[in-house]
Amino acid sequence: MAKIIDGKKISQEIKDELKKEAAALREQGKEASLAVIQVGSDPASSIYVNNKKKACAYVGIRSVSYELPSETTQEELLGIVRELNDREDIQGILVQLPLPAQIDEDAVIRAISPQKDVDGFHPESVGRMCIGEKGFLSCTPAGIIQLLKRSGVELEGKDCVVIGRSNIVGKPMALLLLRENATVTVAHSRTRNLKEICRRADVLVVAVGKPRLITREYVKEGAVVIDVGIHRDAENKMCGDVDFADVEPVAGAITPVPGGVGPMTIAMLMNNCLEAIRSKHE
Ligand code: GUN
Repeated sequence: MAKIIDGKKISQEIKDELKKEAAALREQGKEASLAVIQVGSDPASSIYVNNKKKACAYVGIRSVSYELPSETTQEELLGIVRELNDREDIQGILVQLPLPAQIDEDAVIRAISPQKDVDGFHPESVGRMCIGEKGFLSCTPAGIIQLLKRSGVELEGKDCVVIGRSNIVGKPMALLLLRENATVTVAHSRTRNLKEICRRADVLVVAVGKPRLITREYVKEGAVVIDVGIHRDAENKMCGDVDFADVEPVAGAITPVPGGVGPMTIAMLMNNCLEAIRSKHE
């Protein structure tokens, strides 16, 4: 029986810590604020954006919301981002992805001031993370590091396998695990012998985007399994990239879906919003 890593509980602890810090910063006249921009009305994006705004309200971060029509042009969106870059009363800027096809996501990410890049997606933030300099960390991988640390999982010298190489999760995850002195392997859709590679892992982070792909044959007895996937199956039941029922009996610890990695992403976004004012006033 695996230990269930409770992301809901750990994210709540983090938000409570941040709430106290936000109140202390406010006493010093420093107010955290986040501009959240959504283009179009993709239902999944609307849920994420609402959860982000709710978390801001809980922690005590002022959120300003931009709901733009799906026909918004790239120039219009870039204009809003540039205006927000210049605004003294806005400390963090988040453009919810994905964006409609007529907008170049990379151009928008690059337009956000690196000082306000609370998603940690700007090339400057990514570069800083890569060389171990202070900067905004991508929220999902940073949240996974917190989940592991706060669950007492030692990473130094451990064999960690990350499945997935996206810019948002896989690549930054590998770099953050390396920072913790783990030995890191990155596997992906073209990897040969995926099962054998995964079975070497002390810590297996799965971000492949395929429902219940990872069964017990991929998991070493006692391994820590972190599931980044989020899907709905044929019965409309939520599930991850890991077949939880199959893997749980052999794993040492495992994150559930929902209630594992998901809530941590938002907690780390809140941390980045405070980081924007911590560093600004140093
Ligand atoms: N879409 C899915 N996840 C994210 C995220 O972490 N940040 C942004 N901006 N968009 C997303």
